[in-house]
Amino acid sequence: RNGFKKECFILSVDVGTTTIRCHVYDKEAKVRGSCSTKVVPLYPEVGHVEMDPDVIWEGFVTVVKGAVQDAGIQMRQIGALGISTQRGTFTTWDRKTGVPFHNFISWQDQRAADLVKSWNRSCTMKAIQATMKVLYFLTRQERALAASLIVFSTQHVTFRLVWALTHYKQVLQAAAEGNCCFGTIDTWLLFKLTKGRVHATDYSNASSTGIFDSYQMCWSGTLSSLLSLPLSIFPKVENTDHDFGSTDPSIFGVSIPIMSVMADQQAAMFGECCFDVGDVKITMGTGTFMDINTGNKPHTSGAGLYPVVGWKIGSEVVYLAEGNAADTGTAIKWAQELELFSDVQETSVMAYSVSDSDGVCFVPSFSGLQAPHNDPKACASLMGLKPSTTKSHLVRAILESIAFRNKQLYEIMLRETCIPITKIRVDGGVSSNDFVVQLTADLFGRKVARPQHYEMSCLGAAFLAGLGMGFWRSREELKKLQSPEETFLPQGAPKGGACGPSREHIPALHSWERALRRSMNWYKP
Ligand code: G3P
Repeated sequence: RNGFKKECFILSVDVGTTTIRCHVYDKEAKVRGSCSTKVVPLYPEVGHVEMDPDVIWEGFVTVVKGAVQDAGIQMRQIGALGISTQRGTFTTWDRKTGVPFHNFISWQDQRAADLVKSWNRSCTMKAIQATMKVLYFLTRQERALAASLIVFSTQHVTFRLVWALTHYKQVLQAAAEGNCCFGTIDTWLLFKLTKGRVHATDYSNASSTGIFDSYQMCWSGTLSSLLSLPLSIFPKVENTDHDFGSTDPSIFGVSIPIMSVMADQQAAMFGECCFDVGDVKITMGTGTFMDINTGNKPHTSGAGLYPVVGWKIGSEVVYLAEGNAADTGTAIKWAQELELFSDVQETSVMAYSVSDSDGVCFVPSFSGLQAPHNDPKACASLMGLKPSTTKSHLVRAILESIAFRNKQLYEIMLRETCIPITKIRVDGGVSSNDFVVQLTADLFGRKVARPQHYEMSCLGAAFLAGLGMGFWRSREELKKLQSPEETFLPQGAPKGGACGPSREHIPALHSWERALRRSMNWYKP
């Protein structure tokens, strides 16, 4: 695609776990129009979390039209479309008719928890891990990565796909006939937007499924044969800034070039301009996702930091090491449903209104505990309740738990990557909470920056689409377009030195760690 006409805009859509949002960006990266709609999750059984593919598609079309209307512009003024999506949520469909075989199975879904646990404990896995550790032709780092990669997680697609192939007979049959398409949300949207012409994804999304070999940059043949996953169902993997084709004119009245497809956490990293090794961003949305730029090598971790491709642009591949905590926004939403407060904006003030949580500890693990605990059987819990406990204490305990999980992720990131951290930026809806961000800075003993515009996944996909069109010229230009940031400096005396967590928070952190240990391995198979 060449050149860019004046008075054009970039359109970017982020399909998150709770919201589908679309922004229209101008040349200064200012939002000129927006539209959003809620994602309605389906809970057909305990532990099952699904979404209707047709509802996602309709939501996507609605927000695009709504944002363009809100901006007061014509659809033909959109120069390029960027798409950012939640990762690991997939469906399968009939290649010829485009009709899905089943609902999207969400990254939050726990139906494969027992399968994951038994595979991780199986003799086969132990034998593979042991072999990987000694294979002489692999480097030390590759051996460690190979061994850690085959510690499966429910958030990865892998075992939920095994489940789908076992339970939906038509999927297996279509796969045998070469008529089955697998796709995460980006792939489904590309297929729909191009009326079935494109069955593709990008490296950032593929690497987040757990079935992708980030060393060889292809779908993992080893894993596919081990788990009998038919390779024919997987989409073609393209560069993150690939020209994915144009939207069919019947959808928006004109053809819009689709110039970037990105996984949401990686997109947020790009939107935050975390382009350099050691840059860290913490996205606090439905869950918390902490990512560090590890440069041109995937980073190994035994504690559950997962190596993903940040982006592939031309021949440049940037990797991230990622740790996550699945319940952040979900914990706040739960508290709101219990009527601990009516407006989320009140929570920071409520937490500051008391000097501590009155000894109450909340463990945010409605969907198990991720790195460094990696325990899908952990329960959420509220401990240390007293007759003196007020709503403000409970709210404080919930907000503290989010910052405490940040601290745990930060510690393993420091310990396991050994990469000096250059900057830390927060984004996502929960980052608007001053109490959480300040406590995070205090616990890290580091400055934390919060941009004014915190919907970074949308911005990241827009940046990439705009770079591809020549709308923006360079990453240096993108850095200059960043919205002003607010900085949170660590407060209180650090424990035992110039860096490290503020001393006053240590007792609360220790009590909370005790509560967390008691919540582990709660649910028995
Ligand atoms: O891996 C799941 C992640 O992509 C979900 O992100 O922002 O929808 O919570 P979010």
